[in-house]
Amino acid sequence: MSMDTKQKMQEEVEKRRTFAIISHPDAGKTTLTEKLLLFGGAIRLAGTVKGRKASKHATSDWMEIEKQRGISVTSSVMQFDYAGHRVNILDTPGHQDFSEDTYRTLTAADSAVMLIDSAKGVEAQTKKLFQVCRKRGIPIFTFINKLDREGQNPFDLLEELEQVLGIRSYPMNWPIGSGKQFRGVYDRMQTQVELFQGDDHKEIQVQKVSGYEDDIVKKIAGDFFYDQLVQDLELLDVAGDEFDFEKVRSGELTPVFFGSAINNFGVQTFLENFLKLAPIPTPRRSSEGEVDPLSEKFSGYIFKIQANMNPAHRDRIAFLRICSGKFERGMSVKHVRVGKDIKLAQPQQFLAQDRDIVEEAYPGDIIGLFDPGIFRIGDSLAQGGSLEFDELPTFSPELFSKVTVKNALKHKQFQKGVDQLTEEGTIQVFKTVGFEDMILGVVGQLQFEVFEYRMKGEYGVDVQLQRMNFQFARWLVDDKNNIDPGKFRINSQLVKDKKDNYVVLFESEYAMRSAMEKNPTAKFLETAP
Ligand code: G4P
Repeated sequence: MSMDTKQKMQEEVEKRRTFAIISHPDAGKTTLTEKLLLFGGAIRLAGTVKGRKASKHATSDWMEIEKQRGISVTSSVMQFDYAGHRVNILDTPGHQDFSEDTYRTLTAADSAVMLIDSAKGVEAQTKKLFQVCRKRGIPIFTFINKLDREGQNPFDLLEELEQVLGIRSYPMNWPIGSGKQFRGVYDRMQTQVELFQGDDHKEIQVQKVSGYEDDIVKKIAGDFFYDQLVQDLELLDVAGDEFDFEKVRSGELTPVFFGSAINNFGVQTFLENFLKLAPIPTPRRSSEGEVDPLSEKFSGYIFKIQANMNPAHRDRIAFLRICSGKFERGMSVKHVRVGKDIKLAQPQQFLAQDRDIVEEAYPGDIIGLFDPGIFRIGDSLAQGGSLEFDELPTFSPELFSKVTVKNALKHKQFQKGVDQLTEEGTIQVFKTVGFEDMILGVVGQLQFEVFEYRMKGEYGVDVQLQRMNFQFARWLVDDKNNIDPGKFRINSQLVKDKKDNYVVLFESEYAMRSAMEKNPTAKFLETAP
């Protein structure tokens, strides 16, 4: 690489931030995303994000099923520029029927923003998504939303982060008053007060102060809230965690911001701090060691495949996270698993729902590739080499259905469909030992519906799904002679995954625990060995 190219590459990588917002439905993710996009000057998108949720616009409904249910099935990607940075937001479906796609999308992010409703605290879906981020050790930033409404005590919320999620926190700012009496926040990092003036979207008034003892703070807060504020901040100074950048980077400490997304209050400060503290595109592990984003050779991996994004064309789009090198439209890269060179001719970038053709892109960016059926989840593309990125994690299914084909004559298409949809990661498939009944496993109900819909639409097969009572799957590792279906008859069942690994399905935590006790030599793993 010439010096110039090298420098350009470095600049492009350093200005990028790629993150996902994790939250429970209704915490305000759509609202926050919209405000962030507005700061990026992407004003024309403002209504679009909302529109997708309302499901009024044909262009935003990538699948028929989305239209029917008025929700977004897909995780899309949004990009904007702010203060010299290029920001990629990976959107994860907000509906509680989320899917494995949601989890896998998190592997493409370098950090996460955890959005919490101040009245509700840590909710179920937040917890699940948090755990996936935790496993990867990525930095997590917390935005506590809806401060304009009566919420929980801020200390209780921090306590909940620690108790429920096991993460320590550092409040970057602290609310003055709450609900109807919400006056604003005291910014601990910049020692200033930001005034909340209701929902009129005025420019936020910022008052620099010498510290929280400053008279100005007292005047703004009023005696009552001032005393409370001083007490709280003193307590934080004495008993709270110190700000530790390394701990933020390793995901052990989460910087916490209080605000109100709908009123655009605290969002800009949040964004600016986030951009300062969040990591640039990080190296990814591969068969050839860690891949440095600055490396000259282009590489990336596919973390998601979306079929029928445009019903008129019946196309599939493979989402690629660029891990190193520069992407240029029309370039040839090696499809490593297949061992063939392919040309990346019409890649797309996703700006809300508009699809733009990308001319060039850099590590941290996500591009969409037209997929004539050659890609699988986890595939690596690399220039001049054969490096393969580490396999994407699989997730333990929580919902199970027995699946049969209605018309026995269609068995061949049925098998083909199941094989392909499994490869795409739409569902996980298991077979009972002996009878070879087929069981589907998913993490979200929606995956069943997508499966049913696509089996009919793409393979012409009507399937019948019959829900089973199981709640947990554990991969069984034990001496061959110890593995016996007879041991798992009550509230459980022994099955095999598609690679013939043994898996036990359990109806309850109790059933799982007692099986573990009865089989002390066996290991029960959450994911495939
Ligand atoms: P989601 O994507 O996480 O599901 O949440 P979304 O942004 O759609 O927000 C959920 C609801 O919370 C919306 O109200 C939204 O207006 C509201 N909301 C978001 N941020 C704030 C905030 O800072 N303060 C208050 N008080 N409310 C907030 P809705 O009535 O369900 O929808 P809509 O009628 O406003 O569209």
